[in-house]
Amino acid sequence: MAARDPQGTGVPPVDDPSRGDAGTPPGFGTAAVHAGEPRRKSGNALTTPITQTATYTFADTQELRDHFEHRIEREEYGRYGNPTQRIAEHKLAALEGAQDCLLVSSGMAAVTTTLFAMLSRGAHVVVTDDSYRRTRQFLNQTLHRYGIECSTVPAGDYEAIAEAIRPNTRILISESPTNPYNRILDLERFAEIGRRHRVKTAIDATFATPYNQRPLAWGIDLVLHSATKFLGGHNDLMAGAVLGSADLVDGIRALQGVTGAVIDPFAAYLLIRGLKTLALRIERQNANAQTLAEFLEAHPKVRRVHYAGLPSHPEHAVARKQMRGFGGVVSFEIDGDLDAASRVVDACRIPRIAPSLGGVESLIEQPALMSFYELTTEERLQVGIKDNLIRYSVGIEDAADLVADLAHALGR
Ligand SMILES: Cc1ncc(COP(=O)(O)O)c(C=O)c1O
Repeated sequence: MAARDPQGTGVPPVDDPSRGDAGTPPGFGTAAVHAGEPRRKSGNALTTPITQTATYTFADTQELRDHFEHRIEREEYGRYGNPTQRIAEHKLAALEGAQDCLLVSSGMAAVTTTLFAMLSRGAHVVVTDDSYRRTRQFLNQTLHRYGIECSTVPAGDYEAIAEAIRPNTRILISESPTNPYNRILDLERFAEIGRRHRVKTAIDATFATPYNQRPLAWGIDLVLHSATKFLGGHNDLMAGAVLGSADLVDGIRALQGVTGAVIDPFAAYLLIRGLKTLALRIERQNANAQTLAEFLEAHPKVRRVHYAGLPSHPEHAVARKQMRGFGGVVSFEIDGDLDAASRVVDACRIPRIAPSLGGVESLIEQPALMSFYELTTEERLQVGIKDNLIRYSVGIEDAADLVADLAHALGR
């Protein structure tokens, strides 16, 4: 486990496994630029090359034997890994303080491959209630078809989480912060419940990134990310990540070799490039989101703001304990109905209307009209999605411009 947070930032310093010396661990920004990458690269390139190949050659049958009998380390076939992917995995593992990292083709591939690897027929999962729509669908519909049961419990109700555990429960899973309401889970408490009941814990930390929060340091077993979001950071790649102990990640990697949700070498390259600026981008997005959240909270046409950086947020104290910053997504409820919220969205000039989040460009959407479009208002309310809710993914533009734009949109 990574060292606990000596500076009280909520996020411990980075241990870079690629260093191998007794030097002081580098800061997050330094590790983001350098960790995981060998100093000398092929062709003396400064940047990590893209190894665009589907397969790898063997000199002779002896080399093949040496490979299968683990006497040498090398690549075999594209579905089992790629050198550019490995470097991206080492970098992200260093940033997350994880023993191992597996990159996959999307955030949903991270969720589905992990759950398929850890569960079998007759198993049971406990999940907290506010989470990405497709994760809910996979847990409640897809896994159900394979004889795996799922209990959904309110985020923040730790007694309910413990009470939902059965003898066949194999995993407790939650997002933190959650999508779209930015609920914050007390990671230390969640991990303790898992350990007490000998059940693995997994956190989808997409909204936080390791810059803001490192769940493994609080005792969580597995961290999942949609790397499509903040980690890539430029809305130009699809990828997912699973991080944790080598033992756990190995099992998931083995299943990936069968199910085939591999990351493309070019996406791995883009991810390496995106990760280099992670500290800069997240600092800016944290600051922009905080400014926007404070502006919105004071606005008469806004009923409620869901952002963990606001003292009014129900889990603000927990967020301060375990996070360095509170992330780049601000969700808020307009004083009005679905159409009133649409009018605000349509009047904004800077954020573009699009699904996804976490990139340098601000994006805006109404969850009721995006992820949950085909449901009725009543069905949406049953899963907690309000018609007047707007989710704003704050980019790296100037905060003053974003505030002026929203002020104009709300004033219409
Ligand atoms: C919290 C969270 N997890 C997972 C996903 C799925 O990621 P991807 O779109 O990369 O499959 C998303 C997508 O929005 C998400 O918000």
